[in-house]
Amino acid sequence: MSPNVPLALAGAAEVLRLPDDALLYLRQDRAAELSLEPGSVLVAGQEIVGFEHDTSYAQIDCRGAAVVPGFVDCHTHLPFAGWRANEYAQKLAGVSYAEIARNGGGIRSSSAAFAAASDEDVLAQARVSAAEMLRHGTTKVEFKSGYGLSVEAELRALALADTLGERVIQDTAVTALLAHAVPDGYSADSWMDQVETMLPSVMNETDAGGLDIFVESLAFDNDHLTRMGALAAKYKVPLRAHVEQLATHGSVPVGISAGARSLDHLSCMPLSDIPALAAAECAAVLLPGAEFMNAEQTAPGRALADAGAICVLATDFNPGTSPILSLPLIAGLAARLYGFSVKELLLALTLNPAWVLQSSDHLGALALGRQADVLVLDGPTAQLPYRLGHNPVALVVKAGRIVWVREDQAWRVPKYLQPLDGHEVTTEKAR
Ligand code: NIG
Ligand code: FE
Repeated sequence: MSPNVPLALAGAAEVLRLPDDALLYLRQDRAAELSLEPGSVLVAGQEIVGFEHDTSYAQIDCRGAAVVPGFVDCHTHLPFAGWRANEYAQKLAGVSYAEIARNGGGIRSSSAAFAAASDEDVLAQARVSAAEMLRHGTTKVEFKSGYGLSVEAELRALALADTLGERVIQDTAVTALLAHAVPDGYSADSWMDQVETMLPSVMNETDAGGLDIFVESLAFDNDHLTRMGALAAKYKVPLRAHVEQLATHGSVPVGISAGARSLDHLSCMPLSDIPALAAAECAAVLLPGAEFMNAEQTAPGRALADAGAICVLATDFNPGTSPILSLPLIAGLAARLYGFSVKELLLALTLNPAWVLQSSDHLGALALGRQADVLVLDGPTAQLPYRLGHNPVALVVKAGRIVWVREDQAWRVPKYLQPLDGHEVTTEKAR
């Protein structure tokens, strides 16, 4: 990690700014109000302190580049153990997700792998992924439990997520996905009783700052969603929910009534539910990586955006449905699948996901006084969706320090400010 000296990200071709620096979220039908003008960004301490030209700051040469806020990935399933490439091969041969799950694959197989792995092995795998995410521009990331499938194992997953948060450079948030699959020996109802019983420990002993549930015929139903919403309200934490991923269950209005802060997936949501979701203070978290890899239906992203929903893009990074951790790749998929413009993509990767994680008062935008989580992209933002598979991230500033410089972009940065090498990104936070 470089020393913390005042930085001028100078002379960029584009700097992404909000129409109003105080915004905490922006509905997607207003994305065109974002600006992408040439300019500079000044960083001092951990904050953004200006946008003028100032040669007294250490100069980062941003010619030809875009300067944007660090990306926020508000939906991942880290930590997990191992991978499930064998299942992907089955899917390619036409076996359905439900069938794979019934044959002992899916969430259950990741649960078994998680149980068999040591804490250090789980953490080591997750840190490698978090470092790779950082190189792709993710400066805040959410972790979920959900591969525990017993009281003890869910608490272990949450404890590991907490530890992981201390061992990665990103800011992190932890969500307790306590209703992911119905554990052996329980019905969905009796497991929800168990969830209710374990919540005092979850809230007292872990950093979990939200609750999540998977609503699907092979998991939990709308009544359980309502019940999870009541529990989230009781413990004053946001409700998140996986809904309408593989089939239509009418969960959108139920989730809104349950007070959800976000409804995620939405691939099979009925078009008639769009107006209600667009009017709600509830984000539509779209996961095109899962849709693409799992051959799911395509969520009505364009219609949600046009109706003014709070649209968000995330990776859903997990070993089953979306082993994709690159938000630039997610942006490219979203552009093609939903017809999102570049400004819509950027909004859905920055301010709006920061709002989902209750951190958009200090993250998610290049605005005076906000934390200096800043990316320099190696070309104009129009290339983000277009150069699909290319990682445009040239340089990452995290809380005011340069934490990653891509080798071919080192010419932008004075030598004394360059992190020693790529391994820097796997080190722990500076304290
Ligand atoms: O978001 N839908 C439920 N959970 C994950 C998949 C989990 C898994 O297959 O391991 C998802 O797609
Ligand atoms: Fe998910």
